[in-house]
Amino acid sequence: MRRILFLLGFLAALTLLVGWTPEPAIPSEDQEIAKKVKELLAKMDLMDKVGEMTQVTLDVISVGEPYNVPDPHRLDSAKLREALVKYRVGSVLNCSGHEYSLEHWREIITTIQRIATTEKESGIPVLYGIDAIHGVNYTEGANLHPQQIGLAATFDPNLAKQLAQMTAYQCRASYIPWTFAPVLDIGRDARWPRLWETFGEDVFLASRMGEAFVQGFEGDDLKDETQVASCMKHFLGYSTTLRGKDRTQAWIPERQLREYFVPTFQAAVDAGASTIMICSGEMNGIPVHANKAILTDLLRKDMGFEGLAVSDWADIHYLYQRHGVAKDYKDAIRMAVNAGIDMSMTPVDIEFPKLLKELVEEGKVPMSRIDEAVTRILTLKFRLGLFENPTPKMEYTDWGAEEWSNLCLNAARDALVLAKNNDKVLPLKKTSRVLVTGPTANSLIPLNGGWTHNWQGDDASRQTKGKKNILQAIQAEIGEGNVKYVQGTSINDEVNIKAAVKAAKKSDVIVLCLGEMSYTETPGDRPSMNLPLAQQRLVKALAKTGKPMVAVMTEGRPRIISMIEEELDGIVIALLPGDEGGIAISDLLFGNINPSGKLPITYPRSSNDLIVYDHKGTDRVGPLGFSPQFEFGHGLSYTTFETSGLKLNAKSYRKNDPIEVSVKVKNTGKVAGEEVVMVYVRDKVASITPPVKRLRAFDKVLLMAGESKDLTFTILPSELSFIGVENEWTLEEGMFEVMVGEEKVEFELK
Ligand code: BGC
Repeated sequence: MRRILFLLGFLAALTLLVGWTPEPAIPSEDQEIAKKVKELLAKMDLMDKVGEMTQVTLDVISVGEPYNVPDPHRLDSAKLREALVKYRVGSVLNCSGHEYSLEHWREIITTIQRIATTEKESGIPVLYGIDAIHGVNYTEGANLHPQQIGLAATFDPNLAKQLAQMTAYQCRASYIPWTFAPVLDIGRDARWPRLWETFGEDVFLASRMGEAFVQGFEGDDLKDETQVASCMKHFLGYSTTLRGKDRTQAWIPERQLREYFVPTFQAAVDAGASTIMICSGEMNGIPVHANKAILTDLLRKDMGFEGLAVSDWADIHYLYQRHGVAKDYKDAIRMAVNAGIDMSMTPVDIEFPKLLKELVEEGKVPMSRIDEAVTRILTLKFRLGLFENPTPKMEYTDWGAEEWSNLCLNAARDALVLAKNNDKVLPLKKTSRVLVTGPTANSLIPLNGGWTHNWQGDDASRQTKGKKNILQAIQAEIGEGNVKYVQGTSINDEVNIKAAVKAAKKSDVIVLCLGEMSYTETPGDRPSMNLPLAQQRLVKALAKTGKPMVAVMTEGRPRIISMIEEELDGIVIALLPGDEGGIAISDLLFGNINPSGKLPITYPRSSNDLIVYDHKGTDRVGPLGFSPQFEFGHGLSYTTFETSGLKLNAKSYRKNDPIEVSVKVKNTGKVAGEEVVMVYVRDKVASITPPVKRLRAFDKVLLMAGESKDLTFTILPSELSFIGVENEWTLEEGMFEVMVGEEKVEFELK
């Protein structure tokens, strides 16, 4: 007691002397939310809890039947009450069939929130989620930027962040606080129909782009009504199936899984991603939705993720319907929830909460698991400020701002890769007479790809008003009189190749718009990687005219073009540049911009030779060697760049010494341009066969003609570690090689 009195006396004296008072401990916002969640949870009954864990698609509460909702869309008030009030459904997703106007979205969500907060006893607001993956692609008039594969080609994480901020604003303006993006699956199999939804094949690049996207979506405070919760997807091992087809079996050894598939997700967890969506596939014979080792041990314990884990579409059903690991739906729910799923994207029936309630009552799912899941869901709802404002209070006056179209246009320009430019066929003269031909010239669909206005992105009646496709943009650039358009072929079939040849004879140059139409998921599986035969025939027939030919490839994955590549003087790999892609492509063709995009994937030469850039030495053995059509990182400019003077700050390093790499980059041509400087490192000897090289740093710089810049990159030795014999991150001493451009320098790690 005396000691306490003495201490109090001492503090009082100190206060008098220096005016200091001990600050009362203010609970942090997180602590306050934790307290509120705990209090709310204590008041909830089991039905409230299992309802919170249920997510239905909008069809379920709409007039009509699931997958068959009539136009114009209307909510069904009886179904709405059944779902929200009777079954206490905590989350709703997506649109029914196609995009809606901003007004309709606001009306839908205001109604949903009114019923949830006033008619449901708990008053808990609904968490609405949507696939806003390249802009708010389900709200009419929203700005659409390049798909992730195109963003990766910009090598510009800051741009990705700005675009995600734009999406967050427009998503919240649609009253939706949660987007199912980014895709953090690593795009290492070019056959996969969702390759374009990824940031490409490289782990380092995809991690930087992914964390930037997450930061752009979430900002510093989710209560800010211009931010949304992000959803990393699809955890884990979705992108590399045995046969390259969507949602088919994957066999990925733990070593590869941890080294190539986990890091993009880890980077996003560290960047503060709030939610995660689980992979629909099965890996090593176990459906991921039933895999506790992945969903709990790896995700929660090793990776430290604390947010909400939502299933993918109907995937709990599929545990018994497709995968055959559960005997019925109830058994499947038991497995998935016990494995670590917090919310079920059910999505077209409301059996989930009923069966889950029974499972808890029968003691087959512990109450602690339910409380854990509901805690995560409620925490997010509090963090988003949904309890105070179930619909936003702010006015979204920036909707439709011109700066956003410009941002998307700049992104589209930066996302284009000039892969070939023989004899400087590009840029074209604006006085040229141009034949525009090919299946992808006269539509916005192949510029945008899937998840655009509807799921498959294929509804011609719903394209964004006022945006120009490639043909229209070229016509606007050089005048309709100078442009002749003949379709030539559809994607797979000849239309009028002869007419195209005839028109070519009267033209100075041919712009061939080739590639793919839109698709996503299973409908995008294809029997061959080759560019369809009809398109090949179009190229070959036109080549006979002897006119210069430039191909623009709009495609979600690299379709093989080795059989026609020699006929082409120029090749632009446009990937999926979005609604502004037409103008961006025309700008590139006519020299209004200087291309700077770089391939975020290896462009294969043949279907049997799909090798990523960071392959193993043995991948080059044999007559095929490593000879892709275009390498990862490839991309030409209208100027030339040279990197020189590569050096390190030491010859040897200990494991905590930063490795400083410096190099000079110079614009040696006659026009300004942007260059991406890439730093690769090779581990010369390692206990697990080392890849031939890995990208470890990059920077994008703008240089005026003749200008040069000195760049310094810092790499930590820990970044050179790999998953070793014990399946743990391992750093081994020995010799390494740093490569930039044509130069190499060695160092030793001691
Ligand atoms: C896709 C997800 C998507 C979800 C909701 C699924 O089929 O795999 O990427 O977020 O549907 O639309």
